[in-house]
Amino acid sequence: MPDRAAIVTGASSGIGLAIARMLAEEGHGVTLVARRPQKLQVAYDQLSAEGLDVRHAAANVGDEADIARVVSDHANAYGRLDVLVNNAGIGIGAPIGELTAKRMDIQLATNLRSLPLFYREALDLLSAAGEEHANALVVNTSSVAGKQGEAWLSVYSATKAGVIAFTQAMNRELGDRGIKSTALCPAFVDTAMTEFVRDRVAPQEMIQTSDIVAAVRMLLTLSAGCVVPEIVFQLPGGRQLEGMI
Ligand SMILES: NC(=O)c1ccc[n+]([C@@H]2O[C@H](COP(=O)([O-])OP(=O)(O)OC[C@H]3O[C@@H](n4cnc5c(N)ncnc54)[C@H](OP(=O)(O)O)[C@@H]3O)[C@@H](O)[C@H]2O)c1
Repeated sequence: MPDRAAIVTGASSGIGLAIARMLAEEGHGVTLVARRPQKLQVAYDQLSAEGLDVRHAAANVGDEADIARVVSDHANAYGRLDVLVNNAGIGIGAPIGELTAKRMDIQLATNLRSLPLFYREALDLLSAAGEEHANALVVNTSSVAGKQGEAWLSVYSATKAGVIAFTQAMNRELGDRGIKSTALCPAFVDTAMTEFVRDRVAPQEMIQTSDIVAAVRMLLTLSAGCVVPEIVFQLPGGRQLEGMI
């Protein structure tokens, strides 16, 4: 059994895969979560081939039963949870006059509703870790769109603003249990999600997944008395989508 363990959602690519690799390199046993089993298997195979202690659980974070299963299987495998990374997310752009309830619900369930459900299911494990070392960490991936709502990404922006508020609430509610929460709020990160904007922002001009990893690594090293509620990652000049589409 590893000394530390983590669950990372959205771990089959992009930000989640990079954070999962770092956590495993830092000695965590890591449960990788994403929906598509084949893509997840590729990520699992990569990390396993690097000698890292990982397991994989295909699941939809929009599904309450899937979340319960992921946490329970993780507990059976590793017996503890020191770091939870609620990173799975989806953005579906649309002008307000063309929104559909179905697309709204997918974004709400994936980006926002999944967080309280994961906290609820993982509370005992996180509390045990917090009691042991006062540094149980939950990282919630928000976005700069949660700090400043984006036109045509209004529902996505609202879910990501909700992530920030929910993270603040968790710090107030769970602070005395040694459970700390941080919302990550990046602008464009060079991942599959930003393929749509590559003709206007070159990948090398975007934030890199290594920048997000560096921030999470820093969070792991904080002393018990220090909480970082959010980290904003901007492009130079604070550029967002506005004016680009
Ligand atoms: N890239 C950016 O510029 C940027 C900026 C700000 C915030 N973010 C946020 O960063 C997070 C990660 O995005 P990324 O850029 O790394 O994108 P990505 O490379 O497309 O990765 C998204 C990951 O989430 C998984 N996922 C999506 N829906 C899921 C669901 N319902 N249940 C379980 N897993 C799910 C995907 O796998 P499956 O599709 O197989 O499930 C994949 O592993 C998201 O929350 C996103 O909103 C990204």
